[in-house]
Amino acid sequence: MCGIIGYTGKKNATQVLVKGLSRLEYRGYDSAGVAVIRDQELVIRKKKGKLSVLRDDLKKDPIQGKTGIGHTRWATHGVPNDVNAHPHYDHKEKIAIVHNGIIENYLDLKKMLERKGYKFVSETDSEAIAHLISSNYKGDLRKAVQDSAKQMEGSYSIAAVHKGEPGRIVGMRNDSPLIIGIGEGENFIASDIPAVLDYTKKVVYLDNKEIVDLNEKTVLVYGPNGRKKKKKEVEIKWDISQAEKNGFRHFMLKEIFEQPEVIKNILEERIEKENVKFDELKITKNQLKKTKKIAIVACGTAYHAGLTAQYAIEEVAKVPVWVDTSSEFRYRDPLVDKETLVIVVSQSGETADTLAALREAREKGAKVLAICNVLGSSIAREADGVIYTHAGPEIAVASTKAYTAQLVVLYLFAYYLASARGSKKNSGFIKEIKSLPAAAKKLLDQYSSKRNKIAKYASEFHEYYLARNNKSCFLYLGRNVNYPNAIEGALKLKEISYISAEGYPAGEMKHGPIALIDENPWVVCIAVKGATYEKMLSNIQEIKARGGIIIAIATEGDAKLKKSKVEYVIETPRIKELFSPAIVVIPLQLLAYYVAAEFGYDIDQPRNLAKSVTVE
Ligand code: M6R
Repeated sequence: MCGIIGYTGKKNATQVLVKGLSRLEYRGYDSAGVAVIRDQELVIRKKKGKLSVLRDDLKKDPIQGKTGIGHTRWATHGVPNDVNAHPHYDHKEKIAIVHNGIIENYLDLKKMLERKGYKFVSETDSEAIAHLISSNYKGDLRKAVQDSAKQMEGSYSIAAVHKGEPGRIVGMRNDSPLIIGIGEGENFIASDIPAVLDYTKKVVYLDNKEIVDLNEKTVLVYGPNGRKKKKKEVEIKWDISQAEKNGFRHFMLKEIFEQPEVIKNILEERIEKENVKFDELKITKNQLKKTKKIAIVACGTAYHAGLTAQYAIEEVAKVPVWVDTSSEFRYRDPLVDKETLVIVVSQSGETADTLAALREAREKGAKVLAICNVLGSSIAREADGVIYTHAGPEIAVASTKAYTAQLVVLYLFAYYLASARGSKKNSGFIKEIKSLPAAAKKLLDQYSSKRNKIAKYASEFHEYYLARNNKSCFLYLGRNVNYPNAIEGALKLKEISYISAEGYPAGEMKHGPIALIDENPWVVCIAVKGATYEKMLSNIQEIKARGGIIIAIATEGDAKLKKSKVEYVIETPRIKELFSPAIVVIPLQLLAYYVAAEFGYDIDQPRNLAKSVTVE
């Protein structure tokens, strides 16, 4: 999961590449590099560290040229250092490549190439691609890439240049994303749309095993057999400003504050009177009617959205649902068949495990519905039907607005499924769900100043943590529809503040985790009004009796909870319990954000992570 870009045109290629990489940095940020064709030379500059290190270096010693490729890395093979950073040369330094993915047979390729005299300098799998292309090169870069593809196993998107063919870039993909940006007198390839949006809104999505051959004037796409293919150009509707911070300190904070608008847009687009419509969905109502069971499969935050959807679908549409992480589902020989609907949920639409789970499910005859945010992504294209969340680009590694968008779409899908199966229209459902945007806005309005209550709690936690020699941690408890939010809150905190945090169903406390409670952990208790509210109050008493420090997420005006004397209370607007997860998660996101801010961490680009996990 790295970001790659290629540019050919009349502009200064280095500048275009570095700007494009800044839009792709969310995909990996442990090193970055560019290869630019300058006159008859092929110059590579690459640096360990964030893109800013490379940018500073290029400022001091610029490379002029009109064609080049660039890369931002998330290490798989070989530690992050200058040598392992991309681009990689072939041994004659005539070819340079950038790669996103994993070459599974690279050790075999390496042995074969070393026997032929090729010398490897890095520890990466990617370097084998450069030498392989070189070994197949007979004066035509596209043909050399095409022949090399036949010998490569694994997932990859690559871009290659040859100094003897200035102005030409060849790209290829297999299970890793690659798009083409069509400009005026210039063309681009990239891992994702934001990298080219400063220059063009016209894109072409490359399909698996396709090869693109471009120069500033022409873009040719070939199938694996070498035959030319006609591809459809797509006009991107959103703006690059949506991928900018717009005055917020971090993308994560901006994306948290976008949630009322995101929810509102989804509801406006999808609800017509008492009906829900999914115009792009190719799975028919008749097919949905025949569904006997549903499996929801996803990773990370998207998996948590799936766990919440289980409550909604079972309650509203009365179809049995089970939820699985993609990495487990794909290797378990899951019991799915043509009467099963498999719903895969993915913000990026490129998560390798989810994509593999989708394929596994389709092979077994199940219909697969994808809930995706990124248009034209691999998961969206390979599924039988897709519903887009239209949350706009999510740049911060920690997912926030994509999660609430997934929740809202899944609620609406539960309603849609119920009507497809002949249930009576429930106007209460539509009325209640429509109150979500106002509730989210009301909640966020309380936290728009820098010195808000949640920021204050975070600062107190920080002091407490330092005073106890970094010994404190977090436990998140929730029940019923808000149990998945307990794990989501814990995930948010650990991924950006590196503090140990565990999410648990509160009823399970007495079966083990209660042993953790003393004065050390801070316990976030989701205690909003609902079916298990009273039970949650009892759990709170059990924690208090053992000295735990509690942050309660409560329903506004809850006097009873205040009487239980918890240390901290965060109030949320009153909302029907089924829909409350979409509101309750917001203070959890803010808490994680402000704790990480107290520690001074890099919130948008936390260590060891990348936005989309396109490798296993
Ligand atoms: O793009 P996807 O929704 O498929 O990504 C799934 C997970 O990798 C993702 O949600 C991850 O857990 C986030 N960093 C959580 O904030």
